[in-house]
Amino acid sequence: GDYDGQYRPRAHFSPPQNFMNDPNGFHRDGDGLWHIYYQLNPVEPVAGNQHWGHATSEDLYHWTNQKIAIWPFNSTTYVYSGSAVNDPNNTSGFFPDQDNGLVALYTIAASGGLQTQNVAYSRDGGYTFETYADNPVINVGSTQFRDPQVTWHAPTEKWVMAVAYSQEFAIEFYTSPNLVNWTAVSNFSHYGLLGLQYECPNMVEMPVEGTSNGTSETMYLLYISINPGAPLGGSVGQYFPGTFNGTHFEAVDSAFRIADFGKDNYATQFFSGVPNNERQVSMAWASNWQYTSVVPTGDTEGWRGQMSLPRYNFLRKLPQLGGWVMVSEPYNIQAVFSEELAFENDLGNSSVLADYLTVPSGALYFEANVTGLTDETLVGTLNFTFTSTISGEYVSGGTFIGTDTWMDRGHADGFENPYFTDKFSATGIYGGQGRWRISGVIDRSIIEIFVNGGEQSMTNTFYTNQPLDTVRIAANGIAEGATVSVGLWALEDTWA
Ligand code: FRU
Repeated sequence: GDYDGQYRPRAHFSPPQNFMNDPNGFHRDGDGLWHIYYQLNPVEPVAGNQHWGHATSEDLYHWTNQKIAIWPFNSTTYVYSGSAVNDPNNTSGFFPDQDNGLVALYTIAASGGLQTQNVAYSRDGGYTFETYADNPVINVGSTQFRDPQVTWHAPTEKWVMAVAYSQEFAIEFYTSPNLVNWTAVSNFSHYGLLGLQYECPNMVEMPVEGTSNGTSETMYLLYISINPGAPLGGSVGQYFPGTFNGTHFEAVDSAFRIADFGKDNYATQFFSGVPNNERQVSMAWASNWQYTSVVPTGDTEGWRGQMSLPRYNFLRKLPQLGGWVMVSEPYNIQAVFSEELAFENDLGNSSVLADYLTVPSGALYFEANVTGLTDETLVGTLNFTFTSTISGEYVSGGTFIGTDTWMDRGHADGFENPYFTDKFSATGIYGGQGRWRISGVIDRSIIEIFVNGGEQSMTNTFYTNQPLDTVRIAANGIAEGATVSVGLWALEDTWA
């Protein structure tokens, strides 16, 4: 693939060419290598003709594109989304002589016909797959039944699958001793935002931060994507903290919790192979079904679709925000810092201006922190603007200390589309610790921002006619006694 295009992210994953959508089969193998598979149309930069593309990475930023891993068996059948799990103990029986067996579970969608759940296994560490002889492993006669995600439930020594009855707004749970014989055990339906379809369920166990005795308490989280019908239009992800007893998932409450307040963050998948008591790791497809097949990268550069940054995820107890929040922050981003562009540890009510025209990646990480706040001094703003000095186009955003965060992509003029809406906001809550913080990554045609280390996030693509080259980060109206620090780093070109 040629990653030179103006819009090509340099610290994010995008496919070598043609069209990518959902994360599939994300896992970390026994050697610690990260594998992503993804929905790929290998012949055109528009959705359709789904295969599983594949890439590997040691750090989740530098990727090696691999050969297509799973192919459809004829031209009217598509390999839809699904997951993959390591099977070191050979529960499946596919791997008598090895401990690095990998099993993929995915939906086969027949054009205009049934959606069934299928198995393929890999004996070479995830590069090539053989399809199981007795597929499908689940066929309920439905045309809207897809996206199996599998995890190991140690207490019951069973595999657990979450799979969506998309248009019935239900997640069905199945269990299995061997990944091929599945028994339906429960059903989680009509929770949260319904939209028009439920897709891509993921159930994961993750640590809860802030538990009183400092032990490694964990909770389950059920993540459900909906499309179409998001509050901002098109696609969005939501999650439910809860418990799982081996057969039934029970949400802690009936509130819906939006995972990301931008418009380009969908179908998040968590990597299997990460221990439950550690922070989990995920990525989302950073696009939206409303306009993904017409964004300008397809015409000018021959590709469409990118993944979000890899993110760490855990639950944080935040009583002010209704109990629990899934924190979502960039995974070890410091590993790809290449150069410090600016750092001020006491900015006051002033700004930092930097020119990054000469940064080869065109990608930056930025952070602005306020410390020393009290309940009485939650005033002022931190704002950022990324500008093209050639065209005057810009992308901007900011946060009101203690409350709302916003972003605006309306002054990037390279793409006109009625669904490509401009303005986004999220409400945060001051946690009482004297701090407020905004951070983010901008990478040529994608920006992700994080409030308070990931209590809120916002992912948006944008398309400028001219590359952005200058950044200003400004503090205004910050109270006396509070201190503002700002840092700005160039990111490595991970595709060079
Ligand atoms: C979600 C989705 C899945 C399906 C896949 C097809 O974006 O619609 O439900 O498996 O994309 O590419």
